[in-house]
Amino acid sequence: MNAAKTFHVTTFGCQMNEHDSERMKGMLESLGYAEAPEQEGADLILFNTCSIREKADSRFIAYLQQAAAHKRRAPGTVIGVGGCWAQSVKHDVFRQFPYVDVAFGPGQVHKLAEFLTTDSLTAQGFFEFEGFTGHLPVKRARDFQGWVQISAGCNMKCSYCIVPATRGRQVDRPLDELVAEVRDMVENGVLEVTLLGQNVNAYGRAVRGGERSSFAALLHELDALDGLRRIRYTSPHPQDMKEDVVLAHAQLESVCPHMHLPLQTGSSRVLKAMRRTYDRARFLDRVALIREHNPDIALTTDIIVGFPGETEADFAETLEVCEEVGFDGAFTFIYSPRRDTEAAELVEDFVDHEIAVARMERLVEVIQRRAAERAQRFVGRTLDVLVEGSSRTDAARLRGRSGHGKVVNFSGLAEPGEIVPVQITAATSQTLAGEMSLLARALV
Ligand code: 5AD
Ligand code: SF4
Repeated sequence: MNAAKTFHVTTFGCQMNEHDSERMKGMLESLGYAEAPEQEGADLILFNTCSIREKADSRFIAYLQQAAAHKRRAPGTVIGVGGCWAQSVKHDVFRQFPYVDVAFGPGQVHKLAEFLTTDSLTAQGFFEFEGFTGHLPVKRARDFQGWVQISAGCNMKCSYCIVPATRGRQVDRPLDELVAEVRDMVENGVLEVTLLGQNVNAYGRAVRGGERSSFAALLHELDALDGLRRIRYTSPHPQDMKEDVVLAHAQLESVCPHMHLPLQTGSSRVLKAMRRTYDRARFLDRVALIREHNPDIALTTDIIVGFPGETEADFAETLEVCEEVGFDGAFTFIYSPRRDTEAAELVEDFVDHEIAVARMERLVEVIQRRAAERAQRFVGRTLDVLVEGSSRTDAARLRGRSGHGKVVNFSGLAEPGEIVPVQITAATSQTLAGEMSLLARALV
């Protein structure tokens, strides 16, 4: 009997891509492929690509060249490129990289199966938007955590963002289909789900083949499932952050006390140029509403520095908003021009790279200082922690996450997938440290 063919997948970019990769893996295993530990020697080398920032592109190209070198040594190797970058360059991928055999956009993962099972001899690309790959089996990295894609695409037109061009208009999955999927996951041991979409809280208006619904309604339905302990989601848009979702955090036990709410910039002028559809005051008003109903909630955000035309005064406003809000954490990005986006045309207004880097350093200082200050509220408290494995810095300790999304490193005895009480003894901007409270554990 022949040994099973092997595959290796490298994933770039966001959680949506991580999730798509799990689908790819599940699909390949159902086709009889086995996962290889590394690129070298795999029969099928796959890349799930991202195009949100330029850096992801260039890292990916270096990996792709490595795959080409493997293919020169083993010419039967199949190289596949999926995801947003593939979608954004489409058939150009074969011109630029003639050793690629198959390319496919997001939502086209099932076409990869078709390609592999028809023994196609010529390179092929699959780029139409067809919506979801929802019916494919998923291979989960951890048995107790799962991702659910609730919508695809985005109807916003943020001027820096490539997503509307690569992922098309928003399409939502029907509510009952999502509830059934999560129920099935819970029956198979999932305790925590993360709902994924480019603009999750706009969910419900573009349901394909089903009734209109709302994101808050989805949260209520999922909360009612027995055995589902934690619901997370990413990312909402401040424009659509309405009271019903804010109240769901306060009322529904399984909805985690964490919200990732992308600010992008604190300058109303730049927000307008970004076409974000809210201004500084409106963002602060949303934060006040969220905290009024959820005083302990962790708020994290995304910020872009060096958007075309950003002045020192605009940037100072971003710092002010970050000081004022006191985020529990932030992803910070230097603006990078993306093809087919409105902002990429503002070449004359591009901010010098050195200026952007210097602003980024100042921003990170404020973000980290405020996050460290905020994290002190946890010291002395006992938090429920979902154990993920051993600590990355000290294998004798455990690592998990609190409902707030904080990484907690702690001493104690527990298995991955258990939710245990941990008494917090120290906090930095990034992580919490603590000890598992054995007495409290007996009571959970
Ligand atoms: N340049 C820099 N950052 C970007 N993001 C999206 N597009 C760009 C870009 N062109 C950031 C935004 C978004 C996050 C996922 O990536 O902050 O919220
Ligand atoms: Fe991009 Fe804006 Fe849509 Fe987010 S909301 S995916 S930043 S266009």
